[in-house]
Amino acid sequence: MKIQEIFDLAIKMGVESDFRGKDGVEKVLARKNKKYEALSEKAKEEFDKEALINPYLDTRIYNIAEDKEIKKILVGIDIDTSELLLAKQLGDIDLVMAHHPTGRGLANLADDVEMQADIYSHYGVPINVAEALTFVRMQEVARSVSTSNHQKTVDAAKILGINFMNVHGPADNLAAGFLKDLLERDDLETVSDLFDLLRDIPEYKEAIRIGAGPKIVAGKPENRCGRIAITEVAGGTGTSPKLMGEVSRAGVGTVVGMHVSEEHRKEAEAAHLNILIAGHISSDSLGMNLFLDELEKKGIEIVCSSGLTRVKRF
Ligand SMILES: [Fe+2]
Repeated sequence: MKIQEIFDLAIKMGVESDFRGKDGVEKVLARKNKKYEALSEKAKEEFDKEALINPYLDTRIYNIAEDKEIKKILVGIDIDTSELLLAKQLGDIDLVMAHHPTGRGLANLADDVEMQADIYSHYGVPINVAEALTFVRMQEVARSVSTSNHQKTVDAAKILGINFMNVHGPADNLAAGFLKDLLERDDLETVSDLFDLLRDIPEYKEAIRIGAGPKIVAGKPENRCGRIAITEVAGGTGTSPKLMGEVSRAGVGTVVGMHVSEEHRKEAEAAHLNILIAGHISSDSLGMNLFLDELEKKGIEIVCSSGLTRVKRF
């Protein structure tokens, strides 16, 4: 496979596991195309054209130094210059792939947050409420990433002549879809039963071994879980803490997430909502693994780095 084919497969798998469904994703792209058409010539020039075809702007190809057949990839959750040097040192790496975005992907992280409104609406929060709170959160995320040195690692890849890309939103969608299929059951009685299911997933088992396993951060193990919602895995980054109260009032008893702030915990406790953190890097690994399985099936060798726990499911 060439780099563009690997990238296209990631986007395709991301759409297939997207909370919004294929139609929902197409609507988002259609909206962006309409917006683009209405821009002035100058604004069109500045517009990130990738937004017209790629629904996950936090997933990008940053550098193609040599457009060759990819046989071996160094994959990591976070890639910076040190992993790029590691790839150079190994000598036979055709592509370096990060999970977390950098460069233009990081600058566009807020774009991925937009889907949080649809995720919360799926669990019963009125769309007007979910959209209003998500809009505020998008602005916060955009401001917080705007001070980053986005291009640092991209510049290093260019200097070293290394092929470099990342897969973020699609991998998080895959992790959320996997957890949704496994955990959203009505035969689980307590938060502790839910926890037991989670601890049997190999990525979380390994996270427990290294002291970073799942944690109940709001509620008690013996609490009944009620309706379970996977709201805090896909959607780029943490949501608005105010959504904790809203989703509780919408009928959810337990939220499973991968990054939940202290503010989320307080809001959840006030709304008697249980929160189970599945683990951040372990959930990132889970999502990447579901994608990497498809690459390995095509004969591509994966070298793990930077926190990636590789588990094959084929
Ligand atoms: Fe992450």
